[in-house]
Amino acid sequence: MSLLVKNGRIITAADDYHADIFVEQDTVTLIGRNLEVEADQVLDARGKYVFPGGIDPHTHLDMPFGGTVSADDFETGTRAAAHGGTTTIIDFAIQTRGHSSLEALETWHAKANGKTAIDYGFHMIVTDVEGDRLGEMKTLADEGITSFKLFTAYPGVLYVDDGTLFRVMRQAGENGTLICMHAENGIVIDELVKLALAEGKTEPKWHALTRPTLMEAEAVHRVTAIAEQAQAPVYIVHLSSADALRELIRARQRGVRAFAETCTQYLFLDYSCYEQEGFEGAKYVMSPPLREKWNQDELWRGLILGDLQAVSTDHCPFNFKDQKTLGLDDFTKIPNGGPGLENRMTMVYHGGVGQGRFSLNKFVEVTSTAAAKMFGMFPRKGTIAVGSDADLVIFDPRRKETISVNNPHTHHMNVDYSAYEGFEVEGFPETVVARGKIIIRDCEYVGSKGDGQYIKRGYFSGL
Ligand code: URP
Ligand code: ZN
Ligand code: ZN
Repeated sequence: MSLLVKNGRIITAADDYHADIFVEQDTVTLIGRNLEVEADQVLDARGKYVFPGGIDPHTHLDMPFGGTVSADDFETGTRAAAHGGTTTIIDFAIQTRGHSSLEALETWHAKANGKTAIDYGFHMIVTDVEGDRLGEMKTLADEGITSFKLFTAYPGVLYVDDGTLFRVMRQAGENGTLICMHAENGIVIDELVKLALAEGKTEPKWHALTRPTLMEAEAVHRVTAIAEQAQAPVYIVHLSSADALRELIRARQRGVRAFAETCTQYLFLDYSCYEQEGFEGAKYVMSPPLREKWNQDELWRGLILGDLQAVSTDHCPFNFKDQKTLGLDDFTKIPNGGPGLENRMTMVYHGGVGQGRFSLNKFVEVTSTAAAKMFGMFPRKGTIAVGSDADLVIFDPRRKETISVNNPHTHHMNVDYSAYEGFEVEGFPETVVARGKIIIRDCEYVGSKGDGQYIKRGYFSGL
């Protein structure tokens, strides 16, 4: 099969030019002006941008959490991602205490294999270092799992102590792999939670009020210092606040290989979401929580200046009606996480390029290229070049949509609310090609379950 994408304005993290793109099977084989080639299919991208497919390096599909399971599985979640212009995700497999991480990998392969609309990889969450867990890290890396997530949050569940952290980091550094950190001081947060509950403070907003930015900043400071000692590169996931960013920048300034992503929700939503009537705030219960609005400007600045490298979603949706309500009488029982996988590209384009904060190249960098480089997929993914996978988004910069659970163009996630209900965006992905196959055509899904493949990622090589 061959495909010709004609007349588009091709934008990568480095380039901006008009040309045609010729694709054979799943690979870009020729780029040039007015290409005279025969193709099985032709797409006309005149007046549109052609971006590399979006890469979301932080999703939780079909993930057990707090006595329930995230509402999107690998079929529904990746289809929604495709609608939104994302053609690769990296999801998190979870090694549980006392069990092998190789067993966890098998479980996550079974969840995803044959179900996805787009390509996918896995990070491995490590919860203990018993048995041969450290040895398994190299086996996993050879299987394409070249990044490992650890938590200083959620004591008793996913939390690891500093000694464990150090040992896993040292091993990761030796193996040439990357550590991803959920950085919040879960031990102190648990004390704050106890104090709140003892005073009868059970509403959703107390989730945010017991997870202050200072406890995120403290954890960023600690984990970057431990990474420095262990000589391992570290990537802070879902960084949410100016306080935490300040600690990240301090580490970077003294030469620590410290990187970070923020998420769409921290750029657009804020603490006031928790002050809504009734139980509405539960829709935004996630960790870290949404912050005071002024933090948003600092996060945008972090992206502009390059201290934050990427925007992910931490997509971890739970239905409002029958999942978030598990915590109706106690905010600690509300499953943590929210939806957004489908909305990231259009939101970041709108807030970044549309509102004049950064260039088209920067948009591609933070939504695709940086993640490809950081997580061992570049230049196969994250750019448009001869030899790269033909993951392409034909994006209409003038198309306006109002994001809503009721808008058939903006909501395909398997969850009963939108975190961005009523947001008006200008600039929208219309047609999406994943490894050479058109899977979204004029906002309609035309792909098949199982189009996506597991991506065996390479070792960490920096940005
Ligand atoms: O609230 C969140 N972020 N849920 C997903 C799990 C995690 O910590 O990333
Ligand atoms: Zn996390
Ligand atoms: Zn997460």
